[in-house]
Amino acid sequence: MAEFVRWGVLSTSGHAANTVIPAMKAASGGRVMAVASRDARRARAYAAAQDIPRSYGSYEALLDDPDIDAVYIPLPNSLHREWTIRAAGAGKHVLCEKPLALNAAQAAEMVAICRQAGVKLAEAFQWRHHPQAQRARALLREGTIGELRLIEAGFTFPLARPADIRLRPELGGGALYDVGCYPVALARYMTGAEPLAVTAQATWSESGVDDLLVGTLAFPGGVLAHINSSLRLPLRRYYELIGTEGSLLVNLAYNPKEGAPGEIVRRGDDRRPLETYTTGRLNSYTLMTEDFNRAVLDGTEVPFPAEDGVLNMRAIDALYEAARSGKTVKL
Ligand SMILES: NC(=O)c1ccc[n+]([C@@H]2O[C@H](COP(=O)([O-])OP(=O)(O)OC[C@H]3O[C@@H](n4cnc5c(N)ncnc54)[C@H](OP(=O)(O)O)[C@@H]3O)[C@@H](O)[C@H]2O)c1
Repeated sequence: MAEFVRWGVLSTSGHAANTVIPAMKAASGGRVMAVASRDARRARAYAAAQDIPRSYGSYEALLDDPDIDAVYIPLPNSLHREWTIRAAGAGKHVLCEKPLALNAAQAAEMVAICRQAGVKLAEAFQWRHHPQAQRARALLREGTIGELRLIEAGFTFPLARPADIRLRPELGGGALYDVGCYPVALARYMTGAEPLAVTAQATWSESGVDDLLVGTLAFPGGVLAHINSSLRLPLRRYYELIGTEGSLLVNLAYNPKEGAPGEIVRRGDDRRPLETYTTGRLNSYTLMTEDFNRAVLDGTEVPFPAEDGVLNMRAIDALYEAARSGKTVKL
């Protein structure tokens, strides 16, 4: 293997072009070497625009390239399982976009196959690689807000494109899959526990995906989380950890990049700001890639093994079941 991780990108994803590929290029320990598309011309144009040396007219062709060590998979959610398994079969490490799969059973299969193939698998939840999330959790653990009782967390945005993959049920569209997966993961990360029971209500788009989903998750020890996700509301990506003696509010929570100062505000009674902590204008996508590169090069475990993604999908499965049935779902 080379002294750096040689990355291939599966698809000409917009998110990869706008955010992840530039961040991967800025990361130490790796280089973006190839991109593949279902269409060779699209792959060539994308490679030229992104200054990527190789392009392929099919995902298989990229997986056949012996000079690629790892693939980043920003495909529609319904394709995460198939292409992760095929990449593992080709001996490539996988950084797969969130949500890891469409359900916990798929995610567990992906994890088992990657483990068996001896390749690394991580879900591309970049926020947990940023010191903002780590500091908020440390402040919580240090007792700065007393005992944690409630987590309020939301990720909403107004989706402008009617043909977007997020509105297509057959591609794994839906607000909970697309953005609700963050507050769910955040609540699990902050509590360090798994939900025992969930409830949820949703509104559904004409195409049949949830365009607004609000849920509650009950964690051990009497901690409740209240989450919301939407494809139809203004951009909001916040969480507040509320304890017996105050709260920690993070407004720019789930995709911190250079522009965001990594701010955490401690609030007291009547939401009065008491203290502001900042953790720096770091790019969470670059930090995530560097962590992955280090694990590949050093032969160590990734910092957030994909088993976490199985547990996140378990909670997401339960929330969808609750939203569809109107019943409390026990896990
Ligand atoms: N972590 C984050 O911050 C973040 C942000 C945005 C999105 N994402 C995730 O990234 C993934 C892709 O999202 P995106 O916004 O980049 O989507 P996108 O721009 O629509 O890109 C998806 C790509 O998948 C390929 N594809 C293969 N089969 C397809 C099909 N049947 N229909 C449409 N496209 C198909 C297409 O590339 P080719 O035609 O070239 O093969 C397409 O360019 C999703 O899993 C999403 O959840 C993560």
